[in-house]
Amino acid sequence: MAKTVLVTGGCGFIGANFVRLLLETRPDWRVINLDKLTYAGNLHSLADLAEHPNYRFVRGDICDQALLDSLFQEERIDTVVHFAAESHVDRSITGPAEFIRTNITGTFTLLEAAKKQWLDSGNKDENCRFLHVSTDEVYGSLGATGFFTEQTPYDPRSPYSASKASSDHLVRAYFHTYGLPILITNCSNNYGPYQFPEKLIPLVLNNGLQGKELPVYGDGGNVRDWLYVQDHCEAIVRVVEQGRLGEAYNIGGHNEKNNLQVVELLCDMLDEKLGLLLPSGEPRRSLITFVKDRLGHDRRYAIDADKIDQELGWTPKYTFEQGIEKTVTWYLDNQAWMDAVIDGSYQQYYAEMYGKKL
Ligand code: NAD
Ligand code: DAU
Repeated sequence: MAKTVLVTGGCGFIGANFVRLLLETRPDWRVINLDKLTYAGNLHSLADLAEHPNYRFVRGDICDQALLDSLFQEERIDTVVHFAAESHVDRSITGPAEFIRTNITGTFTLLEAAKKQWLDSGNKDENCRFLHVSTDEVYGSLGATGFFTEQTPYDPRSPYSASKASSDHLVRAYFHTYGLPILITNCSNNYGPYQFPEKLIPLVLNNGLQGKELPVYGDGGNVRDWLYVQDHCEAIVRVVEQGRLGEAYNIGGHNEKNNLQVVELLCDMLDEKLGLLLPSGEPRRSLITFVKDRLGHDRRYAIDADKIDQELGWTPKYTFEQGIEKTVTWYLDNQAWMDAVIDGSYQQYYAEMYGKKL
């Protein structure tokens, strides 16, 4: 069925992969990408799609109620897929204010716009959907065993996860109070093309390529469940199309690894593809440096994704071996993308493309 989708944060890592997936696989969906272009927003990631007939980019802030109201009216938005957020746990520890503003107030502002357009206007449309893209971090930290299910009580422990938990609660409240047609997804760690190199995997790839130190927090034993980004994006489409209103769906990769295992694997893959480090001739594992641990570092995340499998028939398509091979190959083939991020020139792209000042 044709849709007009507002994707927020479509210039970020997952959002860009999601916009790409929609334009490739849903020819009758119109995609409006609303993104503030913070440091994490990168128009380069969608440069080849900028002129696509079903696509429009709007630079703007999800906290801007007037902008949201006019976009909803002008475009007759019937579906929201809400990615826009401050997403990096380390930044939330050193500067939480922006996380509170964007993740909580921004989500609230977006909910208000959807409510106004879909419910208060009297034009109720059964096909409207508001999907909030959230994280497994809302559930807290696991010990050596067990999995997060949709029934696991919320126990966020960083400013980032507390802000995401707060926004999840607001989204649920708009369902129970007003009947807004919401859905929530709580996903584990994504990896793949277009990820900003502040996150573990692209950071290690970039530093490994340049022969720089590879910082491993604490003892490297913290465990994450890794999911290839395309699998996450396909799961989101599935939930938009088939999810039960008011429900949350956990999304995970059935793929637990500790951080040291991930870093060592990436070192070995780079060695195999590029040869050992020059001029020392040492393997890249020699770059691994154990550094001070992240404050409040959650020890283990693991997802029970049975609900989305049983209700909606979604399971990941990519094994970790396949996903990581595609990812390493992508970063090696797209070094210009990474170079522009590292030297900051990616932030000029808006001015070049749209003729406006940043
Ligand atoms: P990202 O940091 O790469 O991208 C965030 C995007 O949001 C950027 O393009 C940024 O410019 C935009 N943005 C930030 N503040 C904005 C604002 N006020 N108004 C409009 N746009 C704004 O994030 P990501 O890793 O792609 O994550 C996307 C979403 O998925 C987030 O909500 C995150 O919590 C969630 N999530 C991420 C992961 C993961 O592993 N990366 C896993 C589970 C859930
Ligand atoms: O679980 C889902 C979450 O995954 C998302 O909600 C977040 O938006 C996303 O950033 C990610 O959070 P993490 O904190 O798990 O991701 P990050 O890549 O920052 O770190 C992964 C692990 O690696 C974590 O245990 C911290 C560790 N780490 C990270 C960096 C950047 C290191 O050991 N060294 C590093 O330099």
